[in-house]
Amino acid sequence: MNGQNFLVTGGAGFIGSHRVDALLEAGQAVTVLDDLSVGKMRNVTHHLNHPNFHFVKGSILDKKLVTQLIDDSGSGVRTGLQVPDNNLFGRGLTSDYSVV
Ligand SMILES: NC(=O)c1ccc[n+]([C@@H]2O[C@H](COP(=O)([O-])OP(=O)(O)OC[C@H]3O[C@@H](n4cnc5c(N)ncnc54)[C@H](O)[C@@H]3O)[C@@H](O)[C@H]2O)c1
Repeated sequence: MNGQNFLVTGGAGFIGSHRVDALLEAGQAVTVLDDLSVGKMRNVTHHLNHPNFHFVKGSILDKKLVTQLIDDSGSGVRTGLQVPDNNLFGRGLTSDYSVV
């Protein structure tokens, strides 16, 4: 999974934040999208100065935002989104787990 950017939705939550820890430890770049409805910033504050970490407050229900984050990530993005057809917004992206 070298060279990929990971979009971790719900990354400020229990499971998502551990996923973020593991990805950064593995040298991956991570963007967290979380609306903080349940999750806490304190779960990710230790990464705020990490060069490969980016936090966006917002909802996965915001298709425009999610699409922008995917497009900004460039090639190789993987997501934590649960998508029924495993083909996020027709962009041929894969989801490997669900966090919300
Ligand atoms: N914790 C467990 O042991 C466990 C076990 C099995 C399944 N699950 C499932 O895994 C999922 C995550 O569990 P968790 O314990 O990490 O929960 P959590 O509540 O700690 O994390 C969920 C995160 O998603 C965020 N979120 C919610 N709605 C959002 C939205 N619309 N847009 C962006 N972010 C949003 C919340 O703010 C939170 O940070 C849940 O669906 C849960 O049912 C959890």
